[in-house]
Amino acid sequence: MFDHLKPQAQDSILALIQMFRDDPRPGKIDLGVGVYKDASGLTPVMRAVKAAERQLWETERSKTYTGLAGEPAFHAAMADLILGGSVPVDRIAAVATPGGTGAIRQALELISLASPGATIWLPDPTWPNHPSIIAYLGLPMRTYRYFDAETCGVDFDGLIADLAQVRPGDVVLVHGCCHNPTGANPNPVEWAALADLLAAKGAVPLVDLAYQGFGEGLDADAAATRLIAARCPEVLIAASCSKNFGIYRERTGILLALGSPAQRATVQGSLAWLNRQNYSFPPDHGARLVTMILQDADLRADWQAELDEIRRSMLGLRTALAQELRRITGSDRFGFIAQHRGMFSRLGLTPAQVETLRRDHAIYMVGDSRINIAGLNAATVPLLAQAIAATEA
Ligand code: LMR
Repeated sequence: MFDHLKPQAQDSILALIQMFRDDPRPGKIDLGVGVYKDASGLTPVMRAVKAAERQLWETERSKTYTGLAGEPAFHAAMADLILGGSVPVDRIAAVATPGGTGAIRQALELISLASPGATIWLPDPTWPNHPSIIAYLGLPMRTYRYFDAETCGVDFDGLIADLAQVRPGDVVLVHGCCHNPTGANPNPVEWAALADLLAAKGAVPLVDLAYQGFGEGLDADAAATRLIAARCPEVLIAASCSKNFGIYRERTGILLALGSPAQRATVQGSLAWLNRQNYSFPPDHGARLVTMILQDADLRADWQAELDEIRRSMLGLRTALAQELRRITGSDRFGFIAQHRGMFSRLGLTPAQVETLRRDHAIYMVGDSRINIAGLNAATVPLLAQAIAATEA
């Protein structure tokens, strides 16, 4: 049997982690995988997470199974965090999943169950695991224009022109905030126009929300998702707690499926059934910590404060890098870095430049020139700017 297996193509982001680990050079800089790092290079356990873990250790009496869809308290707390009351609760079905990728996977499984012929529209570019999972499931897929390579902003006219071809029932994947890999995001007026278009087309939006709180703040980052949820009758939202709670390895995510109150019970039953088929019960530890933090006023306030520190530190690094590049190159060519939001910016460098940065400067970024802003610190910002300028010469 195993003789029939073919070698699988490596995921570009995960392959980079290994290359970085294998590089013996002492001053190497990792701007690859989307993991927050503080100025010392540590991905810290957030204070509120530590406090909740301590409480849980003292109070947890049993580790028996949760519900098949996860705990209703987790669903309610996350639905509130994401939707902020913009949608009546009787529209919301929810299922806990292993991380945001698990939520994407379960969303695609639900689509495949309900409407296997639906085309799934992806922004070009998007996170590489999106097309990879869709191809694996054998679902029809198309792309829509998203990124303007000239300005390194959103090609909104191209996006609208391409999505004009969406048919009723097609699924349109959008990044709710902090677009991965580009860091370029629609403005509020563009989001409203996009939500109107999706509603008018009868599309089912699939919102990937992996960075809530990393862009402008928790509510501002959820604004587009809330708008879409209020305007479109059927919406899927795949959310991750990996980044904004810093619990990457706990695999904590949720899929929200919004329909009509009459559809809710069947959608909820289908989500629980899909969990049973794929892995039975979802992981609980991270979901429980998130619930405790969101339900406790003090823990929640401390979590929000730390998340805000993280967001501000990334914004500071963006501004510093844009300024340093302006100083060194004497041009505003990289001014977009300060306008982008979230962990990532696509710098618009060529593959040859990305390779030179890795080979000659031990600076690691994804091949499409996506950098993780949080991989920088005050000392490495000038090093990166110098190295980029050298490859431009
Ligand atoms: C990233 O894009 O770097 C993160 O979302 C991590 C991952 O799984 O790719």
